[in-house]
Amino acid sequence: MAYNLLKGKRGIIFGALDEKSIAWLTAEKVHEEGGQFVLTNAPIAMRMGKIHELAERCGNSQVIPADATSVEDIENLYKESSEILGGKIDFILHSIGMSPNVRKGRDYGDLNYEWFLKTLDISALSFHKVMQVAEKLDLMNEWGSIIALSYIASQRTYPDYSDMAQAKAMLESIARSYGYRMARDKKVRVNTISQSPTVTTAGTGVTGFDIFHEFADKMSPLGNATAASCADYIVSMFSDFTRMVTMQNLMHDGGFSNSGITYEFIDYLKGAEAKQDR
Ligand SMILES: NC(=O)c1ccc[n+]([C@@H]2O[C@H](COP(=O)([O-])OP(=O)(O)OC[C@H]3O[C@@H](n4cnc5c(N)ncnc54)[C@H](O)[C@@H]3O)[C@@H](O)[C@H]2O)c1
Repeated sequence: MAYNLLKGKRGIIFGALDEKSIAWLTAEKVHEEGGQFVLTNAPIAMRMGKIHELAERCGNSQVIPADATSVEDIENLYKESSEILGGKIDFILHSIGMSPNVRKGRDYGDLNYEWFLKTLDISALSFHKVMQVAEKLDLMNEWGSIIALSYIASQRTYPDYSDMAQAKAMLESIARSYGYRMARDKKVRVNTISQSPTVTTAGTGVTGFDIFHEFADKMSPLGNATAASCADYIVSMFSDFTRMVTMQNLMHDGGFSNSGITYEFIDYLKGAEAKQDR
């Protein structure tokens, strides 16, 4: 059911690759709730992904390619978006992540440092660039909302998450530092949402994804949060009902982060034990 929560709001959504992407589901939900937006992704993703299909489904939204590591691309994206949307905007979703070290299966004790810097640039520094360019071009309306997506590996160790853990820690830190500035100068809020493991291209690219997806599900009293429920949460964060929430890393994980152990996980271990006894 739609509530018109975003009627009259305009924004930019980064990172919709295919129908599993968190950004894809968010775009559909924002459209359903009356918001208008420009879709963007890296030029290479334009060729590989299906973003134009999504654009059509969302009231013929415009698609503008931009590499989120390029200040020039972001400037161009914002200038064109302002023209298309008719002025300043109200929301930005940064749904971007990629680690060449993870993708190429490099061991954490054998990282390629150039790739490490690329991980940080794509997955964290790009968030600073997105906000710095927005500030310089005075892109945001007062009481706007900016969201990036994070993962709990920023705070706890997940061996195969590798250098993405450092990228997420930096991303969350940038949300706090830039959040202060955006709030003080523009009354714009900046938050990260720390999402459960989710079956997407980025998620399943991490070795052992199936295992920690299942582990998290059993350790979360509500179960893993899906991409669709994440989209709902993002819509609420873009709406006027969350105007005083800023500089936060918001856990969207079915209770995982505050669970020590759960009966579901105990039963699972007991089952594994019983199997061993047989
Ligand atoms: N899937 C999960 O388990 C999970 C859990 C927590 C957080 N997240 C985060 O959610 C966000 C979205 O990921 P997703 O799971 O929807 O996967 P996804 O693979 O669908 O999305 C990642 C997007 O990043 C884009 N991207 C990569 N390099 C880029 C660049 N240089 N410029 C612009 N865009 C670029 C890709 O094209 C893709 O659209 C990421 O930040 C990811 O780390 C994912």
